[in-house]
Amino acid sequence: MLSIVKEPYLQWPTLHSMTIMWETSEPSDSRVEILAAERIHSGYQGNYKKPEQLLCEVYSEDYCTIHQLTVTGLEPGTIYFYKVGSKHGQGEIESGPHPMKTAVRKGEPFSFAVTSETGGYSGFDSSNGQINRRIFKQMQAFRPDLALFVGDLVNDGTNYDDWDTYFFSPGKHLLTNTPFYSCLGNHERNASLYYDLFAYAPPKNYYSFDYGDAHFICLDSTDFIKPEHYPRSSGGMMPGNEQYDFLIRDLQSSFAKWKIVFFHYPPYVSGGYQVEDLRQLCPLLEQYGVDLVFNSHTIVYERSHPIRDGVVDMDNGIVYIVAGGAGAMPEWLLPRREWHTSQSLAVPHFVQVVVTSTSLEVRAIDDEGRLFDMMRIKKDFYGKRTFL
Ligand SMILES: [Fe+2]
Repeated sequence: MLSIVKEPYLQWPTLHSMTIMWETSEPSDSRVEILAAERIHSGYQGNYKKPEQLLCEVYSEDYCTIHQLTVTGLEPGTIYFYKVGSKHGQGEIESGPHPMKTAVRKGEPFSFAVTSETGGYSGFDSSNGQINRRIFKQMQAFRPDLALFVGDLVNDGTNYDDWDTYFFSPGKHLLTNTPFYSCLGNHERNASLYYDLFAYAPPKNYYSFDYGDAHFICLDSTDFIKPEHYPRSSGGMMPGNEQYDFLIRDLQSSFAKWKIVFFHYPPYVSGGYQVEDLRQLCPLLEQYGVDLVFNSHTIVYERSHPIRDGVVDMDNGIVYIVAGGAGAMPEWLLPRREWHTSQSLAVPHFVQVVVTSTSLEVRAIDDEGRLFDMMRIKKDFYGKRTFL
């Protein structure tokens, strides 16, 4: 019988488009309907009418199980509702309406949430995935415009069931209405399922995109640090390597107010699983004005001081944040901090970042919604940063 295996989820939001994916139990066709979001007001609370006005529809008659359709012609920073549907000769399914929001223009504030390890920790903890469910629920409560997952979404990326167990099922309430990006962690094992399930720009294991005043770059640190050499570099962090050359070109071509890079292995963390060889990337990130780097792998929260040239630099440094997220293992932190550590704590968490054209606010929030760390970067007209 035809059924929905993965509820619809949102990929690659732009000013005028959204890509919508879902999975069905059997090969079937694909349809997305975009509906107008009409606000109504009662008292002090805004809400929406039941969405009924059909604005556009995209259809593919090709039968598949992992469905992917891109809707174009949308307005920037606008909330819509969408429905998906699939049918074959013996049945049909429908999901929605779910809300979605297109990317905002430059100059418009937005917020994004960062976490990781929904599978890397929950895959072997004793709470049967309850931690990642609590983190997903808190992320949803803070209503981010988009989400970043810094790898280890699953325990074993080659295991089909893992993707539902650790990611799509616990995350479905967030993922139906929040576009998200992810990078490869070691637990994904560079599995073909990662490439099948996500609609990132080719080659998918590294890519970049703009959202509001921020430019985001996703890197594949599991390619720079191959499993057979871990934790040593495989020698690719230099010109001539495809991913490294992409990084140079991409940094050179972006003039966004904020540059944010995310990849799995942490170059700076005062705990086990620090991968120091990735510091070979830092001079390039510093040269082109990267503001924030998000990592994971060590299942803790840690925020570095601003760092440049391998030392604390409160004027021009990059802040490295380990958002080890949906799990926490105190024994993974060293008994004492390292010189680069500004704040660290082994608690389940996500990181909320609020972006305006002149400020980045970083807030670390635990699985009960409590704020436990905060930092702000202000940037003036000339690009000079102040860390608050
Ligand atoms: Fe990892």
